[in-house]
Amino acid sequence: ESTLAAAAQQSGRYFGTAIAAGKLGDQQYTTIANREFDMITAENEMKIDATEPNRGQFNFSAGDRIYNWAVQNGKRVRGHTLAWHNQQPGWMQSLSGGNLRQAMIDHINGVMGHYRGKIYAWDVVNEAYADGNSGGRRDSNLQRTGNDWIEVAFRTAAAADPSAKLCYNDYNIDNWSWAKTQGVYNMVRDFKQRGVPIHCVGLQSHFNSNSPYNSNYRTTIQSFAALGVDVQITELDIQGGSATTYANVVNDCLAVPRCTGITVWGVRDSDSWLGAGASALLFDGNGNKKAAYNSVLNAL
Ligand code: XIL
Repeated sequence: ESTLAAAAQQSGRYFGTAIAAGKLGDQQYTTIANREFDMITAENEMKIDATEPNRGQFNFSAGDRIYNWAVQNGKRVRGHTLAWHNQQPGWMQSLSGGNLRQAMIDHINGVMGHYRGKIYAWDVVNEAYADGNSGGRRDSNLQRTGNDWIEVAFRTAAAADPSAKLCYNDYNIDNWSWAKTQGVYNMVRDFKQRGVPIHCVGLQSHFNSNSPYNSNYRTTIQSFAALGVDVQITELDIQGGSATTYANVVNDCLAVPRCTGITVWGVRDSDSWLGAGASALLFDGNGNKKAAYNSVLNAL
């Protein structure tokens, strides 16, 4: 096959990218994105600060630009993200307790209601677990509303759009030996046992020297899948752009039937949140295919 999306489709998977609304006028960018990818995530435009800048006043203009571009070009959309400690609007940052809990519920209903029936999978909760060795929750204003905030978010989401897959998404849950991975695994197992609606786990998979790819990644994907959820690689980038590591990631996903797709976090190195110098993506700053691109295409 000659594109990432077509190659992924051979095994029933998708290959996606993050898109920034402000770059939809860049023809080199849209040409590559349209040609190579079949799943789209808004890099920032569906986050809380973008979609509810004032409490109860929703703004979907930038999110809809990305959604419409994707659908007009025959692509599906992942929703990112509904409940998160980062990129909260100021009004939400200053809330706590029952007031914040209600605002979270209202936000999920407002955003999922707007996109009801249109989204392949939502990252319902993003980055709720702590870094380091605790294996426990991250301290945040949402966590301080009560430990049940995550399951409340998922139950709210299931009612707001019954057609979307509901994902828990996080970084540094790629390495099976890490406490954070085990903490999230235990939560997903508990949710499945108690019937809390959860359908997928998103492995962000931002690999760098502090959190490098490890060959136990396949065990992580297999272990989550064995709980009865899909696994999606949602924000892949690899600092330094190793073609070998990119191939390893693809091979590990393809080894697990419930690993349903891979999304890279940007198109060209110059589009990466890590900066062009990180060389973390599949196209260089001129839009040329890198060695990592060919490695991924061959592995798919
Ligand atoms: C990043 C975006 O790429 C940046 O443009 C923005 O300034 C900050 O957020 N984990 C996530 C993504 O879930 O939403 C983050 O995206 C990267 C880390």
